Amino acid sequence: MKVGVWLVGAMGTVATTVFVGACALSRELVGSWGLVSELSEIKKLPLVAPEHLVFGGWDVAEGRLMRHARVLAREDRALPADIVEAVERDIEAIETEIQPGFLNDGPSLAHALGLRPDMPDAESLAQAAERLGKDLERFREKHRLDTVVVVNVASTEPPFVPKIEHGDLAGFRRLLAENRREAITPALLYAYVAFEHGYPYIDFTPSPSLGLPALQELANLHGVPFYGRDGKTGETLLKTVLAPLFRLRNLEVLSWEGFNILGGGDGQVLGDPDHKQSKLRSKGGVLTSALGYNPHAGVFIEYVPSLGNWKTAWDFIHFRGFLGTKMSLQFIWQGCDAILAAPLVLDLVRLTEFARRRGEVGPMAHLACFFKDPLGVVVHSFADQFRLLIDYVEHRAKDAVYAEKS
Ligand SMILES: NC(=O)c1ccc[n+]([C@@H]2O[C@H](COP(=O)([O-])OP(=O)(O)OC[C@H]3O[C@@H](n4cnc5c(N)ncnc54)[C@H](O)[C@@H]3O)[C@@H](O)[C@H]2O)c1
Repeated sequence: MKVGVWLVGAMGTVATTVFVGACALSRELVGSWGLVSELSEIKKLPLVAPEHLVFGGWDVAEGRLMRHARVLAREDRALPADIVEAVERDIEAIETEIQPGFLNDGPSLAHALGLRPDMPDAESLAQAAERLGKDLERFREKHRLDTVVVVNVASTEPPFVPKIEHGDLAGFRRLLAENRREAITPALLYAYVAFEHGYPYIDFTPSPSLGLPALQELANLHGVPFYGRDGKTGETLLKTVLAPLFRLRNLEVLSWEGFNILGGGDGQVLGDPDHKQSKLRSKGGVLTSALGYNPHAGVFIEYVPSLGNWKTAWDFIHFRGFLGTKMSLQFIWQGCDAILAAPLVLDLVRLTEFARRRGEVGPMAHLACFFKDPLGVVVHSFADQFRLLIDYVEHRAKDAVYAEKS
């Protein structure tokens, strides 16, 4: 079996870390730390092995993958330098599979990063959709892939108010045909192209996309699974672990203030107030759902360039216990952003490919534990979300044993 992994935002930090990590795993240079799919509970499923994954993707910014990986190793201390050097040839091969992506006319910080010289100009939405679709088909044919899983790890886009036309596929197709660029963001176009060609799609970003009925209709039409949005890797992960503790001990959370500082490309993009709104929204609803009420809660995100790929979250939780006595919990989380994200991207690819192989269609709610704002799932306790995954694995593992016996 050979499975294509097509990353949107393929020159970015998360993507670079996915490439380096997958190549290092394939060459058995590293252990499987950080991969949920390598836990004994999940390994019951016959998931695709890292050495059977083939990588490619789209980006709009110019750059070199190896140079980026070396910067992450030497300046940010995010990647081990010896591992980066050991996979140089694999990374150079992946770079030849990275094609120009799509930018609409809206504001994008990718302009500030320097656009790829081969970005097509004066292209309509329909032409862009056709070009992107051809990229996927060429990739699949060239490598004789069983399928391709498309994962969005591109820069966060600003929030977006859906139009009536996004309510169904016919309306979405009209927007596309009429070249209504203000209504079709890159994240929407990428998901549309993946579904139109029958490929599963994962949105690891907070950009609005998979919630739109038009895209879900298209995924169902072509019988593909999908899920998102916004990978849960740091402060929100801790919130969804700790909030149930307060609820189950009947401790009333009075306020929960989260201060986040981060550097890197993501930090730079989130430094823009419009782009930041999408992140604030996806981080927002978690506490109310996990606690069952709405405490005073602030989420602050600031860009600090010198941090590079590192992120610090300081959370202050003020709570009331027996006799009304007030107490507090504070934590400081210092994480390397892409190191937390990259293994989850590989987990999501492996689990999505499995679902696709089994003919599963539509939103994969069992993947809720991977996301801050899981599509259609109101359960926000991490343990409860993880149970959804375990239940799924148990059922599918039993089916596999049954199929083998019969
Ligand atoms: N822990 C984590 O790192 C984490 C967790 C959750 C979500 N995310 C999300 O993952 C995404 C990637 O994070 P990152 O740190 O790699 O960011 P990054 O800035 O390093 O990389 C983003 C890449 O996307 C590219 N891009 C921008 N617009 C594009 C377009 N229209 N088409 C194709 N490519 C485009 C940029 O050129 C860049 O190479 C962000 O949206 C971030 O919010 C990351």
